[in-house]
Amino acid sequence: MKHLLTLFDWSPDEITETIALADDLKKQCGNGIRPQMLTGQVLAQVYDKPSLRTRVSFETAMLQLGGGATFLTSKEAGWTGRESLPDVAKVLSSFVDAIVIRTFSQQLVEDVAKHAACPVINGLTDDYHPAQALTDVMTIKESTGTLKGVHLAFVGDGNNVAKSLAIICGKLGMKFTLCAPAEHQFDDAFLKKLGSELPDAKLDVTNNVKAAVKSADVIYTDVWASMGQEGEADDRKQVLAPFQVNGDVMKAAPSECLFLHCLPAHRGEEVTDDVIDGPQSKAFEQAENRMHLAKGLLARLLG
Ligand code: CP
Ligand code: NVA
Repeated sequence: MKHLLTLFDWSPDEITETIALADDLKKQCGNGIRPQMLTGQVLAQVYDKPSLRTRVSFETAMLQLGGGATFLTSKEAGWTGRESLPDVAKVLSSFVDAIVIRTFSQQLVEDVAKHAACPVINGLTDDYHPAQALTDVMTIKESTGTLKGVHLAFVGDGNNVAKSLAIICGKLGMKFTLCAPAEHQFDDAFLKKLGSELPDAKLDVTNNVKAAVKSADVIYTDVWASMGQEGEADDRKQVLAPFQVNGDVMKAAPSECLFLHCLPAHRGEEVTDDVIDGPQSKAFEQAENRMHLAKGLLARLLG
């Protein structure tokens, strides 16, 4: 049984095979074919933060593969105090075939996985967003045909999305640059783990935007204040303003450089309309790919 908690536990082969499966299911979907690979299987989704893409893509993926899905909050599931977390994990996983959790604490997701009898998928925590990173490399490969040697420059806050991208780039032989102000770069604990798990990862950290994107194949950004950090939004706007991805930043990169954003976007803050709606942007293909990736992931874990 395999979980998706962080990408540290996934091998390059597991990652590329999942993406290949998602690609294949996407092609079939385009031809009107929805293989019923998970007939009778049920997914539970437990969320403590809002979601459009993650929630609906996993539910749709499950339905398209012939299965079903149910949705609840941590409070309703009961592990916030109604009963013990191990008891909830054991009971919930005796009903369903997989669990997606979106919450604040990474530890909570790992604790559920420890006690669950079915695969547990991290649907975003304060620390990681692995299903997003799998989708992002799928989207890059669709455009570039390759991943090895591709240079991704993440400009903005060194957050959960950036961390999962740094891991997947390290796993797949891609080059990753984090371009962020000093106070929003990766924390020491993460850097230490990345260095010990992926000693050959090509990771650069800088606060110079133009230097970061000069040789980039992909520029990526995300909101400056993630869910749970709303109280810091004003301070973050000031510190991160010089890291906005706008037309000047795109001009400083090679002309064929792609733009990605996991969405939701705060237009006019981390990205301008001309960039996210422009010819180099794949942000909406990327969003659609969340569903195809979810199908590949569920098929791999449950099929
Ligand atoms: N990218 C992403 O995870 O979007 P949602 O927050 O809408 O799920
Ligand atoms: N970093 C953002 C990603 C949302 C998909 C957040 O955690 O809110």
